[in-house]
Amino acid sequence: CGIIGVLGNHQASPILVEGLKRLEYRGYDSAGIATVNGGRLERRRALGKLANLSDALVHDPLRGTAGIGHTRWATHGAATTVNAHPHQRGRVAVVHNGIIENYRALRARLAAHQLTPETDTDTETVAMLCDWHMSQGLSPIEAAKATVSELEGAYALCFLFEGEDDLIVAARKGSPLAVGWGKGEMFVGSDALALAPMTNEITYLEEGDIAIVTRAGATFLNAAQQPVSRPRRTVDLDSAIADKAGHRHYMSKEIAEQPDVLANALEYYAGDNEGGQMLEAGVDFSAFDRVVMVACGTASLACLVSKYWVEQIAQMPVDVDIASEFRYREAPLDARTLAVFVSQSGETADTLAALRYATGKAGKVVSVVNALESSIARESDLALPILAGPEIGVASTKAFTCQLAVLASLALQAGRQRGTIDPAQQRLLTDQLRQVPGQVAQALAIAPQIKAVSAQLARYDHVLFLGRGALYPLALEGALKLKEISYIHAEGYASGELKHGPIALIDEEMPVVVLAPHDGMFDKTVSNMQEVMARGGKIVMISDGPGLKDGGDGAWQKVEMPTIDGPFAAIAYAVPVQELAYFTAVEKGTDVDQPRNLAKSVTVE
Ligand code: G6P
Repeated sequence: CGIIGVLGNHQASPILVEGLKRLEYRGYDSAGIATVNGGRLERRRALGKLANLSDALVHDPLRGTAGIGHTRWATHGAATTVNAHPHQRGRVAVVHNGIIENYRALRARLAAHQLTPETDTDTETVAMLCDWHMSQGLSPIEAAKATVSELEGAYALCFLFEGEDDLIVAARKGSPLAVGWGKGEMFVGSDALALAPMTNEITYLEEGDIAIVTRAGATFLNAAQQPVSRPRRTVDLDSAIADKAGHRHYMSKEIAEQPDVLANALEYYAGDNEGGQMLEAGVDFSAFDRVVMVACGTASLACLVSKYWVEQIAQMPVDVDIASEFRYREAPLDARTLAVFVSQSGETADTLAALRYATGKAGKVVSVVNALESSIARESDLALPILAGPEIGVASTKAFTCQLAVLASLALQAGRQRGTIDPAQQRLLTDQLRQVPGQVAQALAIAPQIKAVSAQLARYDHVLFLGRGALYPLALEGALKLKEISYIHAEGYASGELKHGPIALIDEEMPVVVLAPHDGMFDKTVSNMQEVMARGGKIVMISDGPGLKDGGDGAWQKVEMPTIDGPFAAIAYAVPVQELAYFTAVEKGTDVDQPRNLAKSVTVE
């Protein structure tokens, strides 16, 4: 979820909606705003995309210069208008990101005062509790402080009060929150990006902090509710929301940008410049015995690809974990372990919690992020930017390949520092890595072939993806992408694992997409394909010219990729995998950029 607050000199509702637009990546199940209008709290909320709220505001405007807003990714309570934020009880309106874990206990306490909930949400309980404290004679600020001290769980909160059009109380525990400084105006937002059109003067709240915000400025209390000063920083943000540049969807624009952004990232990390020096100075692989990599979703699949590279090139064991498991597993870490956290947004709650678990236990905590102002970047010892530029489509594309480019550069550095590759191998691998942007451009040129296959795939309910080696995680990514945006059930498997179970599913109703570059594993992959075809399965073979010639007989559909030497073929193979999902989704008419039930960045556990 994303939250925003404004104490301004102009009508608040357009500012709130603009801020929410920039936070829609955090969820879009519903949206709402509340203002203080002539002393009274008023709200407008709408189900679904932010556009629905904007439409509602055209017909039924909301006046007032002080307000709060929210875009929701449903946790407690279905995505309905009643459950949409802001929640209001009595004289208090609240927007919330996170989960209040003790809300049932708090509800029970309030029930003893004949106060009953009107929604299914944990957030309403916060507004009820605060209003109850006010009914006991506490001022709005004291009531908000008392409320916050009773909450368990994770939250970023903004309180707005009836009769108070120069006050927002904000609190942070577990979910990020920033206060923005304007001229005679003040702002609150989930991240600096949301506030970018208004101000780039930002104070980030620390864990447990409360901010008391008026138009004159903000004061801060720490977790013990003692006054504390927090630094004000000027952040460097590109305030323009990226547009679609003539593409029908952000996703297609972002797929198409990959040769350029990859060239930038590789120039930075694999050229002889600042990024390379930063890597060199920042990570000394000879000081570590192993690497632990943690992430969620597509970012975790980037980690899985890089496991093949780091292990092969640097002979260093790599454990890859999804963050939601890692954080509770009590995984042993020590000073000889390098911990790497990969996140496009830098705000994913599971990844952030995993990073906090590792801090102080692992020898070094490195993050690989797109958003350098994010919580994950700020809390790591070293943050490596992937330089992908804003990624708006919920399904990650250019961030994934840029993550791969950075992780490949790290693998090369590890091999160099540990002496597992000689200078000639270093040169060869660096050359091969520098060819990736060109290969990705060539892969983009085969879009018509992918489109034709997608028109077929759209008619099926189930699809399997197979790959070997570094292409195995790409098979997982292919299945993930197809599920996410076309809603077709898909599974990814290591080619060699097919015979150990999933082969039972094979029939003519379940196409099998095989990612098979003509590499050292090619013959084995072809054998696995034969096993599928022998059982009446339909193969979509994605390979290069030599591969299709040697192994393409009998395939249902063939896609010809450029020929790629060396270990980094997985990066270019991301393109057909992304486009298969994209064109299939377009064929089916689903919402490509904002698929149902998902959020770009999930900021709750
Ligand atoms: C969400 C998105 C995924 C993304 C994952 C990790 O679930 O829907 O596409 O891969 O979060 O996001 P991050 O910002 O941490 O890379």
